Amino acid sequence: MKIAIYPGSFDPVTNGHLDIIQRASKMFDKLIVVVLINPLKSYSFSIPERVRLLHEVTGSVKNIEIDSFDGLLAEYFNERPEIDVIVKGLRATSDFEYEFQMAHTNKDLNPRAETVFIPASSNTTFISSSMVKQVAMFGGDLTKYVPAEIHEQIRDKLTAEFAAKRLAAQNRNN
Ligand code: COA
Repeated sequence: MKIAIYPGSFDPVTNGHLDIIQRASKMFDKLIVVVLINPLKSYSFSIPERVRLLHEVTGSVKNIEIDSFDGLLAEYFNERPEIDVIVKGLRATSDFEYEFQMAHTNKDLNPRAETVFIPASSNTTFISSSMVKQVAMFGGDLTKYVPAEIHEQIRDKLTAEFAAKRLAAQNRNN
């Protein structure tokens, strides 16, 4: 039994993440998708919201588990000795340096933590969660970027966030 973990922020999950999830789930007996925190980022969706969105879009993937963890990936890996490998997607060479650093840091923190990279499918290489959030804030069409079943939730959340930001900026200027 080979078990992989796919870690990420998933703020929110996009068609790009889903591409990696679907392909990795065919390569391993089980795929554990884990929502983690990059403390240098600010997030729009809470961890339970990100986990719920992941559940909603991965219903057809049978060998998947979705989890979250407020700590180091290397620590999570340590707590789950059944996990064999970390899977990450690579969209472009620009991802490589950051992912390479993370892979080495994780291995340094936990020598058992090996990372394998899966190249993103060509139609998803330009997608990122920030790009999706920006389109959603202006009420744009998310069809090509995010699974249909979560469009409304993403648009509602982000248009509200953007409206609140605009109001706060207006109040500051008055
Ligand atoms: N398709 C589309 N988009 C993709 C993608 C793909 N295949 N792969 C990555 N992305 C996007 C994400 O949407 C995200 O976009 P954004 O920057 O606009 O939000 C970006 O690429 C980076 O995604 P991700 O791989 O989730 O990196 P991250 O920096 O947001 O989070 C963690 C990385 C959460 C896995 C990492 O910080 C972590 O392990 N945190 C726990 C603490 C820890 O162990 N730190 C690491 C020590 S090195």
